[in-house]
Amino acid sequence: MSDNVQEKLESLLRVQRVIPPTAEAKAASYIQDYDAAYRQSIADPEAFWDQAAKELEWFSPWQRVLEWDYPWAKWFVGATCNITSNCLDRHVKTWRRNKVAVIWVGEQGEERVFTYAELFRQVNRCANGLKSLGLRQGDLVTIYLPKIPEQIVAMLACARLGIIHSVVYSGFSAPALATRIQDAEARVVITADVGYDRGKPSNLKEVVDQAIATCGTVEKVIVVRREQPGIPLSSPKEIDWQTWLDDKPATCEAVPLDAEAPLYFLYTSGTTGKPKGVVHVHGGYMVGTYLTTKYVFNLRDEDVYFCVADPGWVTGHSYIVYGPLLNGATILTAEGKPDYPNPGRWWRLIERYGVSIFYTTPTAIRLLMKYGEEWPKKYDLSTLRTLGSVGEPINPEAWEWFHRVTGGTCPIMDTWWQTETGMILVTPLPSMPLKPGSASRPFLGIEADVVDREGKSLPPNAGGFAVIKKPWPAMMRTIYKDPDRYRAYWNIIPNCYTAGDVCRKDEDGYFWFMGRADDVIKVAGNRIGTAEVESALVSHQAVAEAAVIGKPHKTAGEAIKAFVILKHGQQGNSELIQALKDQVKKELGKIAVPQEIDLVTSLPKTRSGKIMRRVLKAKELGQDPGDISTLEE
Ligand code: WTA
Repeated sequence: MSDNVQEKLESLLRVQRVIPPTAEAKAASYIQDYDAAYRQSIADPEAFWDQAAKELEWFSPWQRVLEWDYPWAKWFVGATCNITSNCLDRHVKTWRRNKVAVIWVGEQGEERVFTYAELFRQVNRCANGLKSLGLRQGDLVTIYLPKIPEQIVAMLACARLGIIHSVVYSGFSAPALATRIQDAEARVVITADVGYDRGKPSNLKEVVDQAIATCGTVEKVIVVRREQPGIPLSSPKEIDWQTWLDDKPATCEAVPLDAEAPLYFLYTSGTTGKPKGVVHVHGGYMVGTYLTTKYVFNLRDEDVYFCVADPGWVTGHSYIVYGPLLNGATILTAEGKPDYPNPGRWWRLIERYGVSIFYTTPTAIRLLMKYGEEWPKKYDLSTLRTLGSVGEPINPEAWEWFHRVTGGTCPIMDTWWQTETGMILVTPLPSMPLKPGSASRPFLGIEADVVDREGKSLPPNAGGFAVIKKPWPAMMRTIYKDPDRYRAYWNIIPNCYTAGDVCRKDEDGYFWFMGRADDVIKVAGNRIGTAEVESALVSHQAVAEAAVIGKPHKTAGEAIKAFVILKHGQQGNSELIQALKDQVKKELGKIAVPQEIDLVTSLPKTRSGKIMRRVLKAKELGQDPGDISTLEE
């Protein structure tokens, strides 16, 4: 890690370019003077968030903005609300009733359009459907759907009743899904017959069948049937989505909930094999995602907002579903990959729908870059106004390319945040000068810093740990069933939240994130724990031990490399390597399959037997493993 970080640090230091905001971007900005607004916001963060919260509707007001009992936070204490009242009811009462809320484009080219009124009706029907199954506030529904509108409808329907949703990315395999269903004790699973991946259907229902064989809490499985004729269902446990909702009334009042009532669990990877159930709540999350979506993208009613994430991940939760709907935006969402059926796919959608805000990932940009500039050149991209990037550091080359092919004037918001943070925390605003490769400055109301292990603020350009010094409304409230794991975030470095990222802050206070300080890897922006992959490998009968590292990759940012010791008497050959990859795919899913597997006879360990992945990594990258930087964790 250390040399790798050093190298990145040096390469980033060479970048000098500063891009001033265009006069148009500045004039159109909600926040025109970041420095002044920021100073004011952190002079009294509670007053700042209090003001923001007042832009939304509440059933009853709060007595206190924040109750902070380190490290436990409660926001908008005593208030009642429901995030869906603000996503839907608030808009259907106005002219936005007939405004387009969601345009969905399927992988096969299908198009479905929902106005706010139509989305409202669908969500209410689905909420009534959930009620008819006897589900109530506090129950949990696992949503294992491909990227289709039912995913959004199901999330909102749960939230409307105070039912907690746990969306599981549809690329996860049966054992990974089962772990998440078991931990959350889901009563219902909502799935589909198939998802599509580059034209090929993948059978999701089969994955659910396998998973729930080991999940005793699941009473019902709802199936969205996309294919004709529909796959057979075995009643009474399995219910067809369409028949379930056909006769349900299109009105269902949102349940008034305590501001701290859980909205969702989202499982994410940490440094152990067990995924963490990050808990977010209605009130604070609503305020945080609402305000960041509005200010970071300068979102206006006339915008068409296109975010390429999947609601299986946090970006989809906060910046496809909740943040944009809270703002009454028109959201474009598209199933499928950026280069299928050809690399013009997203550029064509931007032209066709007149997209003005486009939020994507560094991996996708690098992939499109490989196909060349002729693809974006074929399309009219002149409607674009604000761009966004998320999930991993964006290298200046990819930044410059993205900026250039989209017309050379759109500011790129390099947004830094995490599943745990719920909302964007470090980001430019469209009115700020930009530095390609830097996520810029803390969002309003957020006190971020780069510190050493003791929590001491570091001088400009010194590498250290990214921390947040005060609570913020959309922060996770706990890790489900594991409060110690929650506390750990606030205990690593005294008096602050440690994100796990290595970073430096330059002389202008701009943050330059350089990757993780722990055993989490980011492959194509997807968060994967080395320990998860290791335990999947060890579950193969031929494997004695395994160690996994992330290795720099030109397109995906990082790639997974595994070192495996076979059990005595096992024959190492290419079939076995393939079998090990298949094993990881079976246990976790395609996204976690190592790109390379080396068979070895020993692994570097500490005296207490802990595998030193860092040493493996240094060796792999041809660096000196003896050089241990203070950044090493
Ligand atoms: C990384 C994704 C650099 C970071 C929203 C963080 C980034 C992890 C950026 C969280 C960015 C996210 N620049 N790194 N703009 N955005 N990251 O939970 O390492 O999937 O800790 O949330 O992604 O990943 P997660």
